[in-house]
Amino acid sequence: MSQLWSKQSAVDPRLLEFTVGNDFELDARLVAYDVKASKAHVRMLAGCGHLSPEESESLCSALDAIGADHAAGQWSIQPEEEDCHTALEHRLQERLGATGEKVHLGRSRNDQVLVALRLYLLDECANLAQKSLRVAEALDELGARHVGMEIPGYTHMQPAMPSSVELWAGGFASEIRASGDALATARVLLDKNPLGSAAGYGTGSLKLDRSATTRELGFAQSHEPVTAVQLSRGKAEAALAFAIVLMLQDLGRLSSEFCLFGTREFALTRLAPSFTTGSSIMPQKQNPDVFELVRAHSAQAIGEMNSILLITTKLPSGYHRDLQLIKSPLFKLIDTAKSCFEIMALAVGAIEFDGHRASELLTPELLAAERAFQLVGETGMSFREAYRQVAAELNP
Ligand code: ARG
Repeated sequence: MSQLWSKQSAVDPRLLEFTVGNDFELDARLVAYDVKASKAHVRMLAGCGHLSPEESESLCSALDAIGADHAAGQWSIQPEEEDCHTALEHRLQERLGATGEKVHLGRSRNDQVLVALRLYLLDECANLAQKSLRVAEALDELGARHVGMEIPGYTHMQPAMPSSVELWAGGFASEIRASGDALATARVLLDKNPLGSAAGYGTGSLKLDRSATTRELGFAQSHEPVTAVQLSRGKAEAALAFAIVLMLQDLGRLSSEFCLFGTREFALTRLAPSFTTGSSIMPQKQNPDVFELVRAHSAQAIGEMNSILLITTKLPSGYHRDLQLIKSPLFKLIDTAKSCFEIMALAVGAIEFDGHRASELLTPELLAAERAFQLVGETGMSFREAYRQVAAELNP
């Protein structure tokens, strides 16, 4: 099978294997988005008079059929096809012959991969927001299941002031929602149509209507100027990665605290046995592996984000094959984040606080600051004076 760029001399298969890497597998998730963008491109070409209405019609129905077959598992991208773009074009040519060869007028895989990625990432932004919200809601419910239950609040991991399960869970829920707000930056960067920038320098004398694909695909604007498009690759990806890192940081810290609260020594929370894992040697063990793994994923995510940023660091302008390698850490981040959100929503639902233990931990010194506030109210003395008086009462 030949590549879209095949010319006279054959390419060494070992080179092809290296340059493709696992891209043909990664691209599986882009097929549906490439189909959507290709249809918009075809209709735009017809609108500009570069294709007849009949050609446009048959290209679009063939794209639909090829996309449906892919979704049904009837074909997959072959390594020698390199990527989803080539795989689609091959199948169009198989079905339509010469008409299939007309689809690539005025585009390059450089803008094609970006448009598919952007459409895919916009969908994933919505999925991530929705799934992270489930964790925040599970925390709201955790608070609601323990209304009025006081627990110690800690600073430096030392008892500080009284808090409550609602307040504690509410803090995490609120921050998970706030971290989700960071997705807005990614959305703004993603909301620009790269189609029509072609390899990165437009299409010369070939007239295209960029606004037509922008409208059909629902982008806020066409990405201008054409030279900005390849410079932007990796930025929306990094912004999305950063939002994911923030959200996972909240989950990692929450997990860490569940590990701490669940120790025999704290014994403040209990994780349902169905959410614990065992030991191969110690029959008594019921371990919180789920929280340990979420905590580790939250740390590893920073590595993936850095990997995305590092790939574009110091790259000159224009397309470079380096950019292909952004997909792997990006997709890993998205998949990991989604599975962490899903399992955490369930694991938070499997947590119970122990009210009896909470009252044991609520020792009198937690009320020291409260006592000082009261003294100020009762006597009108300065807070500093009240502070000294309470300190002397506690350490006579
Ligand atoms: N797989 C490639 C990528 O992700 C698609 C674009 C290929 N373009 C090229 N000029 N070789 O970047």
